[in-house]
Amino acid sequence: MHDGSGRIVVQNLTKHFGQVGAVQNLSFHVEPGSVTGFLGPNGAGKTTTLRMLLGLVTPTAGWATINGQPFNHLGNPGRVVGAVLEAQGFHPTRSARNHLRVYAAAMGIPDQRCDEVLHLVGLGEAAHRKAGGFSLGMKQRLALATALLGDPQVLVLDEPANGLDPEGIAWLRTFLRSFAGGGRTVLISSHLLAEVEQTIDQVVIISRGQTMYYGMLDDLRKSQQSRVIAQPSDPNKLVGALQEAGLSGATPTQDGKIAIPGVTVQQVGDVAAKAGVALYGVQEERADLEELFFRLTSGQYAAPQNPPQFGQLPPGAHGTPPGGYAAPVQLPQGAQPGGWNPQSGPVPQAPPPPQGYDQHQGYQGGQGGNA
Ligand SMILES: Nc1ncnc2c1ncn2[C@@H]1O[C@H](COP(=O)(O)OP(=O)(O)OP(=O)(O)O)[C@@H](O)[C@H]1O
Ligand SMILES: [Mg+2]
Repeated sequence: MHDGSGRIVVQNLTKHFGQVGAVQNLSFHVEPGSVTGFLGPNGAGKTTTLRMLLGLVTPTAGWATINGQPFNHLGNPGRVVGAVLEAQGFHPTRSARNHLRVYAAAMGIPDQRCDEVLHLVGLGEAAHRKAGGFSLGMKQRLALATALLGDPQVLVLDEPANGLDPEGIAWLRTFLRSFAGGGRTVLISSHLLAEVEQTIDQVVIISRGQTMYYGMLDDLRKSQQSRVIAQPSDPNKLVGALQEAGLSGATPTQDGKIAIPGVTVQQVGDVAAKAGVALYGVQEERADLEELFFRLTSGQYAAPQNPPQFGQLPPGAHGTPPGGYAAPVQLPQGAQPGGWNPQSGPVPQAPPPPQGYDQHQGYQGGQGGNA
């Protein structure tokens, strides 16, 4: 029997496909009443993690639970978890309504619910049309309708915004926010932070199957300390004067300027004036979220810095197409897949669950009740 909490827990989850370390020691939890974004670049291990969560792939190590139970122990899981892993698998000649009826019958749900969910996802007019003729965005909506059939407490969606038009993305955002606002749980993956930034509260950012950041999106935003970039006539003199004024931490930038963290433009201007250093430019800089996401996750499949010219690949080498889909990460022989290490990037954050979420009373009302 599951605990009805709506909580997803992923603990030390690891998956190797042969030599490929797809997911490495991943731990996070998703609380009810929130939308959690599961973010990472292509090949980071998002789908593999969600497949393990949904009992479709056996972990090499670690575990994942929904409502305190592995997915395969949930009883009638469609009533607890609605999941969309890929918007495929529709019988091409079956109408949208009939597709849903097959699933509804399997879950013991009355047919009338099929039309309800079709209207909910904006496919009411297309109920009689064959799913094989649907556009990508329509297939996404039909897949979501299928996930919603059992009025589940938890939604797990892999790249749900793929193929949706702007109106569809805006609709999805509103829908997921209100779904979570009712005390239910939403976990959505994406390789684009911008796509889900306005939808999510919590974020788990992974790269190469490892956690790079785990916490509230707002905290990630706030963690970005602003800095002032100055172009002085005499950088050394300005750095010395700043230090004397108790403003340490100035570093040279690649283009010959200096960057000073945690100060205001006015402070830098005042120190420079007092020291007799001319400033040819001074401005405050704050890294935006997208840039931060890129910094946290870049490297895995990035195109080479100096890509070889076409026709000049060394013998036996494989070029990386722009944007990159290079070979997956190979674990060295005997290597232990691990989490973060001091050489591998920023320290992953693992704060306790956000305040207030524990006040959730559990899902009320029989539709998605305990199995
Ligand atoms: N069945 C499989 N057999 C072998 N390797 C696999 C298998 N499934 C996934 N992988 C590998 O595991 C790694 C993670 O893949 P995964 O599909 O989980 O990434 P993802 O984060 O979902 O990427 P995307 O954004 O492209 O969907 C990749 O290197 C992939 O090639
Ligand atoms: Mg994927």
